[in-house]
Amino acid sequence: MKTQNKVALITGASKGMGAATAIALAKEGCSVIINYKTDKKSADKVLAKCNIYSKHNIAIKADITNEDDIKKMITQIKKNFSSLHILVNNAGIFDENDNHTNIQVFENIFRNNLLGAFMVTKYALNIMRQGKIINISSIHGRLGYGRPTAIAYAAFKAALENYTKNLAKKLAPQILVNAIAPGRVATSMWDNPTAAEQKKLGSVHLIKRMIQPEEIADAIVFLIKNDAVCAEVLTIDGGYRLANLS
Ligand SMILES: NC(=O)c1ccc[n+]([C@@H]2O[C@H](COP(=O)([O-])OP(=O)(O)OC[C@H]3O[C@@H](n4cnc5c(N)ncnc54)[C@H](OP(=O)(O)O)[C@@H]3O)[C@@H](O)[C@H]2O)c1
Repeated sequence: MKTQNKVALITGASKGMGAATAIALAKEGCSVIINYKTDKKSADKVLAKCNIYSKHNIAIKADITNEDDIKKMITQIKKNFSSLHILVNNAGIFDENDNHTNIQVFENIFRNNLLGAFMVTKYALNIMRQGKIINISSIHGRLGYGRPTAIAYAAFKAALENYTKNLAKKLAPQILVNAIAPGRVATSMWDNPTAAEQKKLGSVHLIKRMIQPEEIADAIVFLIKNDAVCAEVLTIDGGYRLANLS
């Protein structure tokens, strides 16, 4: 798919991978919608960077766990652009208290990491005829196990993978749906690690460093431009899954 003058919605784009993706897509000539939940200041900074490269970009505050917020966001996109070509379901959370006993956290992670993508997609499809959807999963969803301290996170990322495949089958060939499963990416989810912290956190990967948000954004651009990849989960984990097998 050609990216010039396409309209792209990136959820959770005020920072991290979402911000890097918005900027990468603006460089590709897309008009980007920078969705965020709370951090307007960061979203505005991303917007200013995108405006260097492309036109008609906007930032929209909307909580993806709130159906009314999503409806309003899609109505505004329809008003500004009439249609949408690219959706990146990136917004997500991690919770230190995610364990096998915490029902409240389990439900909150479900709402933010699975139901949110489902609801955004439902309403986005009202204004998408052709294009691409990319869901951001995780290596913990890929494996589906291996981290009892992120039990809900892994479960709902695994579910997001399964959702990706069924949605791909439903929407192809007009809309191609894929997912990306990153390893450890240096973002605010890891408290914006310093170089020394990145070295330590990245040591679990075969590449012996953390992945940078721009490296995930590159892969998202690839999936958008390539029209043969469909129903795929692209693992970008620096070899994490093999590094821990002996
Ligand atoms: N970092 C990693 O190592 C890693 C690895 C694998 C997968 N992932 C996944 O990659 C995605 C992005 O992660 P990241 O590390 O870039 O995250 P991040 O730096 O923590 O940024 C999270 C973004 O999501 C937004 N957000 C959170 N909850 C939201 C909601 N309910 N509605 C709308 N926006 C919401 C935040 O908005 P505000 O700033 O406005 O609150 C922010 O823009 C997530 O799905 C995460 O699970 C991350």
